[in-house]
Amino acid sequence: MTTTGPIPATNPRLAAFAAHIDAKILTPEDARLADALIADGQEHLFADWDAPGVRDEEKIRLLNTLRTANGSYPGGLAAYIANARTLLAGAVAEGNPFAGYSPEQPAMVDLSGFGPEYDGAEAAGLAAFADTAVVLVAGGLGERLGYHGIKLDIPVEATTGTTYLAHYAGVIHAASRRLGKVIPLIIMTSRDTHEGTMATLTRHNHFGLAPDQIIVLRQELVPALADIQGRLALDKPYGLLMKPHGHGDIHMLLHTSGTAARLAAAGTRYLLFIQDTNGQVFNAAFAALGVSEREGYDFNSIAVNRIPGEAVGGIARLVKPGHPDLTLNVEYNLLDPLLRDTVSPEGDVPNARGFSRFPGNINLLVVRLTPYLRVLEASGGIVAEFVNPKFSDDTRTRFKKPARLETLMQDLPKFFDHGEKVGVTVFDRAWCFSACKNNLADAALKHAENGPPESASSAENDFYLAGRTRLRAGGMEVADAPTAEIRGVPFTSGPRVILRPTFALTLADVRERVKNGLISGASTLVLDGDVWLEDIVIEDGGTLWIEAVPGARVTVRGLHIRSGNGFDLVKLSDGEMQSPDVPEYLRIRGYRIEDRGANKIRITQPGKWNIGADGILTR
Ligand code: UTP
Repeated sequence: MTTTGPIPATNPRLAAFAAHIDAKILTPEDARLADALIADGQEHLFADWDAPGVRDEEKIRLLNTLRTANGSYPGGLAAYIANARTLLAGAVAEGNPFAGYSPEQPAMVDLSGFGPEYDGAEAAGLAAFADTAVVLVAGGLGERLGYHGIKLDIPVEATTGTTYLAHYAGVIHAASRRLGKVIPLIIMTSRDTHEGTMATLTRHNHFGLAPDQIIVLRQELVPALADIQGRLALDKPYGLLMKPHGHGDIHMLLHTSGTAARLAAAGTRYLLFIQDTNGQVFNAAFAALGVSEREGYDFNSIAVNRIPGEAVGGIARLVKPGHPDLTLNVEYNLLDPLLRDTVSPEGDVPNARGFSRFPGNINLLVVRLTPYLRVLEASGGIVAEFVNPKFSDDTRTRFKKPARLETLMQDLPKFFDHGEKVGVTVFDRAWCFSACKNNLADAALKHAENGPPESASSAENDFYLAGRTRLRAGGMEVADAPTAEIRGVPFTSGPRVILRPTFALTLADVRERVKNGLISGASTLVLDGDVWLEDIVIEDGGTLWIEAVPGARVTVRGLHIRSGNGFDLVKLSDGEMQSPDVPEYLRIRGYRIEDRGANKIRITQPGKWNIGADGILTR
């Protein structure tokens, strides 16, 4: 930030402020920052201050906030304000960001069904996972869900209570052991989630990962903008209004912290970007990595089939004569008009399967590290910032409320214009993405409108579904329990299948370990460790729960489990839904899963173990 000399003593509105410097209430560093801001059109932050001694704490807090914002943005507040002015001028001019571009179907591999291509991709991807770092963006507040803790602490499923973070760490732990490589986990936190995330990591001993395997990067808020001149907004005297900058901050933090460069130096080849509450991600991630390897994709979006008009961004290859092609997420409200203006007067039309040619973005990204480093260098980590002011009238000069610069992690390929390969891998939706984003009432409304509910309950439902899908792919017969609505959100009460990463990471693992057998109805199957099943029958209401420590190998043959003391799904009453005595993670689902004394087989000693038709464990 350039300074222009001492605060103009001649400006009477700044006289009280200047007196704080003379009285040494403000440090020289703060004075320099204020000086530069005043020279940069931000006089209003310091004008008409109360005399020294009045509200000094608030003034110091204001300076602290400004100092943090200055330190956390590449180039400081001067750069932020300059970027804001450029982007606001563009917003006033109402430029169409896609003017002159025609949308075409992106380079795409369809893995929405299983088969040899899927298996090949999964095998190649599991090997490539050894050279991958997982980047978990977990700074979001989760306003739509309204959960009071951090989202990473919410159980993915209520049978074992495994949380999202425990689940992700479990996959990384199991894969690290299997591949003989320490796979790093980078977590982005924010002011809202940092403390909670650190406390969880400590409380759970880093979920079995080495402490230095986890890198936590904290995003900061950015100042809000009051007007098109880029003046920073105050929400009260001495109160600088701060807002989230968006999940694109992860690119900035990976750059400014030196993490991306350090990972590359240590041999990491890919970054896998994942979200805080998607328990399905590792169903698809290995196959997507395999596609990146095979196709040479530098940027690969894990995506889903999308129905035209659906409120999910569509990924399109944007073509403009004389310009490099760009494969980007286009928000659904922009995609249809863009199509009508260019290649398709009838808008986004479905293909023979009823899907748009433009697959839906779910923000799960596989990025090759070498071109990523180039982009970070070139952009200083500020990736495709934008501003979205809501103007109060047609003159487009005043805002309805303060705006701010934003950045989205999926916009990275705007910089992939040096011949890099950008593509998409499409998976079945419930297999790769089922997030816990909405409170139960909103989820029920979304379901009523034929949209995905994305509640804790629908996420849990899909987690069990993925377990059943894996068993089916492995050759076991699976008969589902009926589906019924719980508080307006559909839930299939079983079989509730939980296959831990210690049991299987890929479909091939399940195929190898499960031979024949039948599971049906509202039954429960939990497999944790090196477990092999042959000709097992689990009836409606039955439970098979096996946990084996590393080094123990358990073979179960011919076991037939009948309905008995197991797990029951119990809906919460209206009173329980309101009761603080009922854990919040259950109230966001509308049910509990009660253990009525299920038999849990826990093998704590290494060695070869057998369970026969009589159910007795022998060595
Ligand atoms: P979501 O779309 O789920 O948004 O973010 P959110 O902010 O968490 O929830 P709402 O909108 O307030 O209900 C997608 C992913 O991006 C992360 C979230 O933690 C989630 O994993 N995120 C979002 C950040 O890390 N930082 C942000 O500033 C915003």
